[in-house]
Amino acid sequence: MKFCYLLGYPVEHSMSAIMHNAAFNKLNLDYEYKLLSVKPEKLEKTVEYLRNTDIIGANVTIPHKISIIPYLDEIDPLANEIGAVNTILNKEGKLKGYNTDGVGALKALKNAYGDINESCVTILGAGGAARAIGFSLIKKIKKLLILNRNKTKADNLASSLKNHLKNNIFSGDYSQIDQALLESDILINATPVGMIPNISHSPIEEKKIPSTLFVFDLVYNPMKTKLLHDAELAGAKILGGVEMLVYQGAESFKIWTGYEPDDRLMMQTVKNHLECTKI
Ligand SMILES: NC(=O)c1ccc[n+]([C@@H]2O[C@H](COP(=O)([O-])OP(=O)(O)OC[C@H]3O[C@@H](n4cnc5c(N)ncnc54)[C@H](OP(=O)(O)O)[C@@H]3O)[C@@H](O)[C@H]2O)c1
Repeated sequence: MKFCYLLGYPVEHSMSAIMHNAAFNKLNLDYEYKLLSVKPEKLEKTVEYLRNTDIIGANVTIPHKISIIPYLDEIDPLANEIGAVNTILNKEGKLKGYNTDGVGALKALKNAYGDINESCVTILGAGGAARAIGFSLIKKIKKLLILNRNKTKADNLASSLKNHLKNNIFSGDYSQIDQALLESDILINATPVGMIPNISHSPIEEKKIPSTLFVFDLVYNPMKTKLLHDAELAGAKILGGVEMLVYQGAESFKIWTGYEPDDRLMMQTVKNHLECTKI
C-alpha cells in the first residue's frame, strides 16, 4: 500500500480523501489518501519526512500553497507563474509541484457555460484560487476585472496577468461592483464568503444580480450558497464549487497515477457526502 496526503491546516473539513479513495478503489490501485494536519511551523520538517517515505504524492491546501514552494525540488511552469502549488508528485524522492486549480475551474466553467471566448469575466478575490483561475482564463476570454477587499492584491494580480491580455484587464475594490455586474457575462466568487458556518453571507446584494449573469461560486460547502440561491431567484444561471473540486482532483490523480479517474464517481461521492452532512 502506498499513500498520498493532503497537507493543510485545518484539513478535517476536506472532501479530498473520500473522492480520491473512491477513485483509487474503482481502479483497484493499492493507494490510500490521508488527511495530514500540518501547522505552518512544522511544514518544512513534514516535507522532509515525506520525501523519505514511499508516497506517490500529495495535495496542498490553505495555508501552505505558497510557503511550500521553497521546500520542493522542481516547480511546473504553470504553478511557477501562478506562484502556488496544490499538487506534489514524488518522482523517486524528488518532489515536483503543480497547480491544478485553474485547469479544474476552467473545465467546470466550460462544461456549464459553453464557449467563453467572447466573455467578460469578473473575479471577486485575489488569493490563491483567484490567481490560479486568472492564469487559466486569461488567454481565453475578452476582458477580465479583478475586485478584492484589499485593492493592492487585486492590482498585483492584474499586473502579473497583463503580459497575456494587455489592454483588457482591470482591477479594483468592491466599490466598483455595480459597474462590474452590468458589464460582465460571468461572475466568479473566489472568496470564502458564504462558506459554512457563515451560510447567510453573500459577497453581492441580492437585488443587484442581473438575470443575464452566469454566477460561479468556488465555495462547495454548502453546495448552494446564498450567492447562488439569490442568483437563481434573479433568473441567472449558476455553478457551485463541487465540479471544480472534482476536476482539479482528477488532474492531480492523473499526475500521480497516469490513469484517468472516474470523475462521475468522484462527483457523486462528494455530493452524497455533502448532502448527508448538510446543516
Ligand atoms: N471548489 C474548489 O475546488 C476550490 C478550490 C480552491 C479554493 N476554493 C475556495 O475558494 C475560496 C478562496 O480560496 P483561496 O485559496 O483563494 O483563499 P485565499 O488565498 O486565502 O484568498 C482568499 C480571498 O478571499 C478574500 N476574502 C476573505 N475573506 C473575505 C471577506 N470576508 N470578504 C471579502 N473578501 C474576503 C481575500 O481578500 P483579502 O486579500 O482582502 O484578504 C482573498 O482575496 C475558498 O472558499 C476556498 O474554499 C474552492
